[in-house]
Amino acid sequence: MKLCTIIGARPQFIKTAAVSRAIAEHNRVKTQSSNITEIIIHTGQHYDDEMSAIFFRELEIPEPKYNLNIGSGSHGSQTGRMLAAIEEVLLKEKPDWVLIYGDTNSTLAGALVAAKLHIRIAHVEAGLRSFNRQMPEEINRVIADQLSQLLFCPSQTAVNNLAAEGIPPNVTPLTPNASRLTPHVIVTGDVMADALKFAVKKADTYSKALSRYNLKRQQYILATIHRAENTDNPERLLNIMTALSKLAEHETVILPLHPRTKNILEHTLSITPNLSPITSGLTFIDPVGYFDNIALEKNARIIMTDSGGMQKEAYWLKVPCITLRDETEWVETVTAGWNVLTGADEKKIIETALNIKTPSKHPSIYGSGNAAKNIIKALGVRS
Ligand code: UD1
Ligand code: UDP
Repeated sequence: MKLCTIIGARPQFIKTAAVSRAIAEHNRVKTQSSNITEIIIHTGQHYDDEMSAIFFRELEIPEPKYNLNIGSGSHGSQTGRMLAAIEEVLLKEKPDWVLIYGDTNSTLAGALVAAKLHIRIAHVEAGLRSFNRQMPEEINRVIADQLSQLLFCPSQTAVNNLAAEGIPPNVTPLTPNASRLTPHVIVTGDVMADALKFAVKKADTYSKALSRYNLKRQQYILATIHRAENTDNPERLLNIMTALSKLAEHETVILPLHPRTKNILEHTLSITPNLSPITSGLTFIDPVGYFDNIALEKNARIIMTDSGGMQKEAYWLKVPCITLRDETEWVETVTAGWNVLTGADEKKIIETALNIKTPSKHPSIYGSGNAAKNIIKALGVRS
């Protein structure tokens, strides 16, 4: 069976690493006839070494056969260029399946091209919803799910969200003869749990991040900000920065700075992160590799973020999380008491950070780290 994986942004490299590893394992133990040939197509949406190549090196992700070098741009121009370039590759490769991840513009472009070429689509991280269509990611997810034939959900909530949009849960198990076009929804768990399970030991062994940045366990806050709703709204971005800067009067606040946020601070708001009074006291660093980031997360007192992936990693690593958004797709982390939504409200961010407690209970959510295996199994049945 031939599978084209379409990825382009940082979290997709981390997710694909877990699935590519499971494909290699599947091919090692199965007969030649059921081998999965994976062809990786990197759209080039992320291209800086620390946003892309570092993950391929560290996580030993197979080399992409194609790098489309699309780069940055407005939604229309970036997605449009992806459509044309992906179409050319899929026409040439003629895969049985296209595998897409999450909710980026690379996900949307992959889904649109595959659907128009009548190639079946498998969507990893299906059914996630913020119910906020101002978010570009929400639009990408809704469309990707509507066009997919295999929908791999991390949780029952995701299954319910799909049902509400007319993609019903399955009443019968997946069979090889299932209709080509009928969507099939499967709760697989989250591939990021698989990725974390693999990386956490490596982070413990290899990461020097704590000594490199002069950090002490449990005595710092790790923060990341990159979402459009925060970075493209100067009021929200400045509120968040001010809150973080005030917290830095009490303890170290370290921020691996996403290039989007760096560009907006420097070029739109004329703030040089390490020099401006608005961001004074904050420790800005370049984005780090996955193992270093896991080490930074694991040893932080709190994680403050608008990242989707980091909310879940905080949960799995049992680190309290403050989500700098008004809503989240990862509602189970909030219900369990480990994640607090503060939006971009300066006072609320500071008060929550100063008073946050570690809940005594930690229910298992989003699977146990076997999502990639479940995904490969389902793809095998429908090959
Ligand atoms: C994208 C995804 C978002 C995901 C995030 C992961 C979309 C719509 N958004 O957001 O869902 O959470 O990736 O990190 O797909 N840039 C660089 N170097 C790079 C990449 C980006 O300098 O290697 C800068 C450019 O100025 C670019 C900006 O970052 O315009 C935004 O990049 P883009 O890929 O469009 O969106 P992200 O904010 O990264
Ligand atoms: N991450 C990383 N280095 C960093 C920041 C984040 O390796 O400097 C990892 C993080 O551990 C998580 C993923 O990147 O696995 C999250 O990606 P991001 O926040 O860019 O996107 P999102 O999850 O919000 O879509």
